[in-house]
Amino acid sequence: MIIGILKEIMHDEGRVSATPETVAKYVADGFQVLVEHGAGTDAHFFDEAYAAAGAELVSDCAEVYRRSDLILKVKEPLFNKEKNLHEIDMMHSGQYLITFIHPASPVNHAMIRKMALRGVIGLTLDGVPRISRAQKMDALTSMSTCAGYKGILIAASDLAKFMPQIFTAVGMIKPCNVLVIGTGVAGLQALATAKRLGAVIHAADIRPDAAEQAKSLGAKIVDTTVPAEAAVGRGGYANHLSEDLLAHEREALRAVVPNMDVIFCAALVPSRVAPILLTDEMVASMAPGSVIIDISIDQGGNCQLTEPGERCVKHGVVIEGIKNIPGLLPTSSTWMFAHNMYHLVSYLVKDGKMALDRQDDIVTGILTTIDGEIVHRGALEAMEGKRA
Ligand code: NAI
Repeated sequence: MIIGILKEIMHDEGRVSATPETVAKYVADGFQVLVEHGAGTDAHFFDEAYAAAGAELVSDCAEVYRRSDLILKVKEPLFNKEKNLHEIDMMHSGQYLITFIHPASPVNHAMIRKMALRGVIGLTLDGVPRISRAQKMDALTSMSTCAGYKGILIAASDLAKFMPQIFTAVGMIKPCNVLVIGTGVAGLQALATAKRLGAVIHAADIRPDAAEQAKSLGAKIVDTTVPAEAAVGRGGYANHLSEDLLAHEREALRAVVPNMDVIFCAALVPSRVAPILLTDEMVASMAPGSVIIDISIDQGGNCQLTEPGERCVKHGVVIEGIKNIPGLLPTSSTWMFAHNMYHLVSYLVKDGKMALDRQDDIVTGILTTIDGEIVHRGALEAMEGKRA
């Protein structure tokens, strides 16, 4: 089986789907690996290292697409301006593709229809379920870890103050207060990072388990007032809250928001638009020079004033709506991503070939297109307008 590794074409995307280390593992497992020239350069993994690991370097991406049985990518297929062709148009029927497809997202519906029409077997990394046996394959969790860490570094750099307590000859400077809303994977990493930087950390999450984990990191817990039975849904994930419960939660947050120097927003309900937890008026209550990092922006954002992909200043508060934070940490995010990918490929391959067991939870979670059809449940529901 031939595996193809492409250079990502999304603007500013430095990550790549394999490192020389994982290429060596694929080769040791009996695969042939094609790597497009320069694929890993932006993540500081160079062509010579891929060649030394046993890859064949190929200059033309179209050749990688043509010769490979399995394409590994980071981002969904896009239009390649240099080739004047969509990446899907370089693919062929029966070819496998593993990448982040985000098939439920309406902006991707036309693309996945095209993928199905082309006969590509698309597998999406964002569908890997958060179950113990899939942990090693869970690239979404890895990328959230990157976002939690780097997001707090961005906050520290935007902030007009020191984060830690500083003793100076002219007096003591107090440590800043950081509130993390939504203490899932990204939020917990944000709390841990802010604590290492010396901030006083506060946390709010509607799931009691998540609040408990935040507390064990040393965070002061803000009571969201949302009852556990309303907060926790299927599979232990957070529920979509009624407008009434959200209003109560905003009320609870409103009491602490004015004292915060940094608010890190990472509250998410799977497959739903992110809940609005910071209103215009709450932002206005913060001190000028404070910072909001809203990483839930791909799902619409937790703050009413966040601008997608932009850094803006409103009421004197810096609001970061930055997308693709893992891309700002390309070596580490690539390292994690490539290893998650290797574990997933190893799981899906039997006797040197891709073998999809359609009864398996992991396969049903990730399978997006096969036999000319879209089969991803979230995508189909979203297409029928069943989901917000
Ligand atoms: P997660 O599912 O692990 O955590 C989300 C948390 O939000 C859960 O603990 C949940 O209980 C909590 N939550 C849900 N509704 C809430 C509410 N009303 N109030 C308080 N907490 C609430 O998700 P993960 O992996 O930590 O991701 C968080 C966000 O970060 C997502 O929106 C994800 O797309 C985004 N992300 C953004 C990146 C970027 O570059 N901007 C990169 C990686 C992740």
